[in-house]
Amino acid sequence: MKVGIAAISLFLGCSLATAPASSAPKEPQYCSLPPLRQQAALQDAWTAERLALVPDLLAKHDVDAWLISQREYAEETVFWSLKQAAQFSARRRTLALFLRGGERYVWVDNTPGLWARVREVLERHGPGSIAVDADADLSWSGGLHAGELAALREGLGARWAARFVVRRMLAVEFVATMVPGRLGWYRCLMGAAWRLIGEAFSERVVVPGVSTTEDIEWWLREALQARNYTTWFQPGVSVIDADWGVVDQPAPPPPTWRTASGSPAAAAAARVIQHGDMLHVDFGVTAMGLNTDTQHLAYVLRPGETEADVPAGLAEGLRRGNRMQDIVRSRMEVGATGNEVLARSLAQMEREGIRGMVYSHAIGDWGHSAGTTIGMTNLQGGVPVIGELPLLRDTYYSVELLAEHFVPEWNATIKFPLEEDVYWDRETESWEWVYGRQEKFHLIRTPAEEESDEL
Ligand SMILES: *[C@@H]1O[C@H](CO)[C@@H](O)[C@H](O)[C@H]1NC(C)=O
Ligand SMILES: *[C@@H]1O[C@H](CO)[C@@H](O)[C@H](O)[C@H]1NC(C)=O
Repeated sequence: MKVGIAAISLFLGCSLATAPASSAPKEPQYCSLPPLRQQAALQDAWTAERLALVPDLLAKHDVDAWLISQREYAEETVFWSLKQAAQFSARRRTLALFLRGGERYVWVDNTPGLWARVREVLERHGPGSIAVDADADLSWSGGLHAGELAALREGLGARWAARFVVRRMLAVEFVATMVPGRLGWYRCLMGAAWRLIGEAFSERVVVPGVSTTEDIEWWLREALQARNYTTWFQPGVSVIDADWGVVDQPAPPPPTWRTASGSPAAAAAARVIQHGDMLHVDFGVTAMGLNTDTQHLAYVLRPGETEADVPAGLAEGLRRGNRMQDIVRSRMEVGATGNEVLARSLAQMEREGIRGMVYSHAIGDWGHSAGTTIGMTNLQGGVPVIGELPLLRDTYYSVELLAEHFVPEWNATIKFPLEEDVYWDRETESWEWVYGRQEKFHLIRTPAEEESDEL
């Protein structure tokens, strides 16, 4: 890991030690965020590094210019990755033009004179092709609003509008690329995610027979707020049994909405946590424009039980999930499509007699960020459009999957969902865990005497 001097001096209370590639450090630490002003300086430095890549991206994707246009509150998706940290929205009509030669222009203007000024710049540089983010399928390269495209055509005139092209990988690659300076902070936030999960999944927070899964979800929300972090989705805590199913994100619509099939969408019901339960959490931390995504498992020991009492069938299920993580990570060949990585991973699992599903995604500026996707829970045969994109280097991914394993102790086939984030390591040319990966259950312990006191 390489961290610039400026970034190091701004680390407060964060260990810079590199985590071992295959397991987590013993004691994850909270990541203390610097004052807002310093956070903004750090974020702006990352944005500047990324903006410097634009001319090469234009050359790579064979286009002469890139036009990103929006109005206040109707921003393009790319706007959020371009803006300064202290900028909260676009204003009036905000128009950015990047040229292959490295020139950049920004207009914030809502007067009719704007169009003549933009045309004058276009005349000066004469781009033969101008990328606009009007892709029909991808959020990052499809953020240009329909009305805004109409305004561009009208304002710039037929001569320039005829040069508009869509280069879907341009915006994808811009949003996806994670500059090296971010990694230390990413690792720091991942450590915090692990620490919060470790606390939530402990006897300090879970009281068997009393706490509900929803209690733990809200505990996590409050704990995030207390540390000045936020999140990009409501934490999901559940008890895994034979009936457990993957809840597809985004969160289900309110119960009064009807799904296309006509039945009300059901949210997972809160459940009282009991001794002998296996717990699951899906949890993300957001700070400084970075998002994490982690899924871990816990086991609620019965009074007096120790780690050795975790049913062997559950431990084997977790091991199979770990093996799947290794398989997916090793099949994530840069340049291959997400669908190819998916097919190769599933084929290797089959050879090893492992059943399960793979649904891994890019992460970074967004929780489900720009880049190809490696399966979705409902699309194990390949994902249209987004699964056909090439896997990019210098990005972060969430290796998200589940193994299925027959647990003799429960006489049932159980799902073992796991999720950990990786980053592209430029030196080893491989995907490495940002923090580590779960190889042992979090344990909720109850002393033997506590139970006899209650009797
Ligand atoms: C959260 O922010 C407040 C206000 O800046 C600060 O006083 C507090 O120490 C921060 N908490 C943590 C855990 O960093
Ligand atoms: C295990 O489950 C199967 C099917 O669900 C059932 O037929 C069988 O009786 C169960 N075995 C035991 C030992 O409970």
